Amino acid sequence: MILSGRQQKTPRPPWQGEERDRLEILPNDRNENQTQMSLQEQIRRRRTFAIISHPDAGKTTLTEKLLLYGGAIHLAGSIKSRKAARYATSDWMEIERQRGISVTSSALQFDYRGFSINLLDTPGHKDFSEDTYRTLEAADSVIMLLDGAKGIEPQTLKLFEVARLRNLPIVTFINKVDREGLPSLTLLSEIEKILSIRAIPRNWPIGMGRSFRGVFDLIARKAHIYTSREHGGARSEEEVMDEDDPRLDPILDSIGLLPEFKEEIDLLDSESQMWDPGLFRNGTITPVFYGSALNNFGVELFLNSFLGLSPQPGPHTSDMGPILPDDPRFSGFIFKIQANMDPLHRDRFAFLRICSGRFEKGMTVRNVNTGQEIKLSKTLHFLGQKRELVDEAFPGDIIGLHDPGVFHIGDTLVEKGDFVFEGIPHFSPELFVRVQIEDPLKRKHLRKGLFQIAEEGAIQIFTLDPEGERDILVGAVGQLQFDVLKFRLEHEYKVRAKLEPLGYDRVRWATGDPDQIGNLSNTLDTLLVYDREKMPVALFRNEWALRYVVEKYPSIEFHGTSPRTFRKSP
Ligand code: G4P
Repeated sequence: MILSGRQQKTPRPPWQGEERDRLEILPNDRNENQTQMSLQEQIRRRRTFAIISHPDAGKTTLTEKLLLYGGAIHLAGSIKSRKAARYATSDWMEIERQRGISVTSSALQFDYRGFSINLLDTPGHKDFSEDTYRTLEAADSVIMLLDGAKGIEPQTLKLFEVARLRNLPIVTFINKVDREGLPSLTLLSEIEKILSIRAIPRNWPIGMGRSFRGVFDLIARKAHIYTSREHGGARSEEEVMDEDDPRLDPILDSIGLLPEFKEEIDLLDSESQMWDPGLFRNGTITPVFYGSALNNFGVELFLNSFLGLSPQPGPHTSDMGPILPDDPRFSGFIFKIQANMDPLHRDRFAFLRICSGRFEKGMTVRNVNTGQEIKLSKTLHFLGQKRELVDEAFPGDIIGLHDPGVFHIGDTLVEKGDFVFEGIPHFSPELFVRVQIEDPLKRKHLRKGLFQIAEEGAIQIFTLDPEGERDILVGAVGQLQFDVLKFRLEHEYKVRAKLEPLGYDRVRWATGDPDQIGNLSNTLDTLLVYDREKMPVALFRNEWALRYVVEKYPSIEFHGTSPRTFRKSP
C-alpha cells in the first residue's frame, strides 16, 4: 500500500462486489434441503480457516462474535473459559485437570448465511504454538488479527511465517480501533515492511479512539455509522450511508475529518484497484479490514467480505498427484491428537480434516500409513466443551475420531485408493531437555510415556542414534510444554522425572551428503541427533554455531522444519 500523491478516481473494476454476489447465491440462503445438496454444493459452501494473532489482540472476542452471528452461542462470554493465556502454570495445571479449558485446538463448526464454517481453534498461549502450526495445515485460509495499537507483534509474525510456508490466503482484521492506536496508514506500512506482503484496504476507519464513528466500505462505497455500542450478545446498530449522503458530512465534521477523509478514500480507491484475486489466493496480498470486535463494529461487514473472499476447500497434494475435494472417494488426514478430553475416561481423540468425498457414520476406512482398516463409528464434532455425534461430513470439515492409539499425526485415511497426503512437518523447537528418572526400573514406562506424548505432538523427541535406543532428548517451543510433560508423566505413567536443560536453542533438519552430516557431531556447540522418522537433526547452542556450520558444510542443506515426506505402510 503505497500512497503517492493525489490520484484521479477511476471506474470500478469488474471484480469488485464479487463477494456479495457469491453470498447471495449460496443454497442454504434459499432454504434448500441440505440433505439434497450435491457434494459440489456442500464443498462450495464450506470455509475452513484459523485466526492467528498475538495474545490479547482480541481473538477470543472476535471468535465469540463470529459464533454469535452464526447462532452457535447466544451470549458473549461463553467461550472465555477456553483462555489459557493469562493463567500462571500452577493455575493452568489445576484447570487442565478439570478440563475447564481446551489448551490444544479443535474446530468450531457453525452455519452462517448458507455457509458452513469450520473455525479452527488455536491455543492462545505461545508455548503451545506448535499445535497452532499444525492446525494451519488443516486450514484453507487465515484471518490475521492485529491490535491496532500494537501492530505486528512477535507471535503474529511467527504464525504468519507458518501460514506463508503453505501460501495460505491471509485476510487482515485490525482490531480495537475504538482505542487510540497507530495511524491507519502506519499500520498498513508496517504490515508491508515487516511481513513483505502487500496490504490493500477494503474498509477504512472513520475516526479512531474516542472519535471513532464507524467504517467506510471501500468496495461498496458506503459508510457504516454505528449508532449504539453493544458489548453483549446483540449486534450493534448502524446506519448505512452513501458517500454523498448529506448526513455524512456533519458526522465527519464533528470529529474534525472534513475534508481530509474524502480525499483519503479517493486515494485509497486507486490503491484498492491493485487488488488481484490470484495474488490474494497465493498469499502475496492481504485485504485489510478495520473494526472493533468488542463493540461489534465492522465485524459483520468483515465476516461477509471474508466469506466471499476466502476459498472453498481445494485440492490436497498426495503421492499420486492432487486429490480434488469432489473426488467421490472419502479421504482425509489427521492433524492433531488430543488425550484426556474427558478426565473421567482417559480418552484420546484424533482430529481429521476431510479432503475429499463424503463421510458417513460407521464407514470403514483404511489408514494408508499403517495399513490398518478402521470402522469410524464414534465420530464427533466439538464446540467448546460440547460434543455432537456426526452422521455425515464433507471436505473442509473437521471431525474427531475416537482413538484407541491407532492414529498418528499426518496419517491419511481413505475409503478407496492407495494414496497418502504429504506428511505434516515438525516445526523447530526452541528448548531442549534430557529427561532423568530417579527409579531406573521405570525406564520402560518413561519411554512409553515420551513416545505416546510425542505422538500426540505435545512434545518432540530426539535420540542420539537413528535407532532410538540411546538417551531421549525432548524439544519444545515453550516451557509450559515441559511442565505439562512432567505432570502427565507423573499422573498418567507414574514416572517422576527431572528435566535437565541442555542449552541448545536452535535446530535444523539436515539433508545431503551422509558423511558430511555425520561430521556435525564433532563440531563445537553442535549436537547431532535423530527425530522419530530417523532424520538427522542438528542442535546448536547459539546463532554463531549455526552460522559456522552452515558456512563450513555447503553440501548440507539445513531446514527450519522437517522436510515433508510421504509415509506409507510397506
Ligand atoms: P485474546 O483471545 O487474543 O488473548 O484476546 P481477548 O479476546 O481476550 O481480548 C483481550 C482484551 O482486549 C480483553 O480485555 C478484551 O475485552 C479486549 N478487546 C478485545 N477486542 C477489543 C476491541 O475491539 N476494543 C477494545 N477496546 N478492547 C478489546 P481485558 O480487559 O483484558 O479482558 P476482559 O475483562 O474484557 O475479559
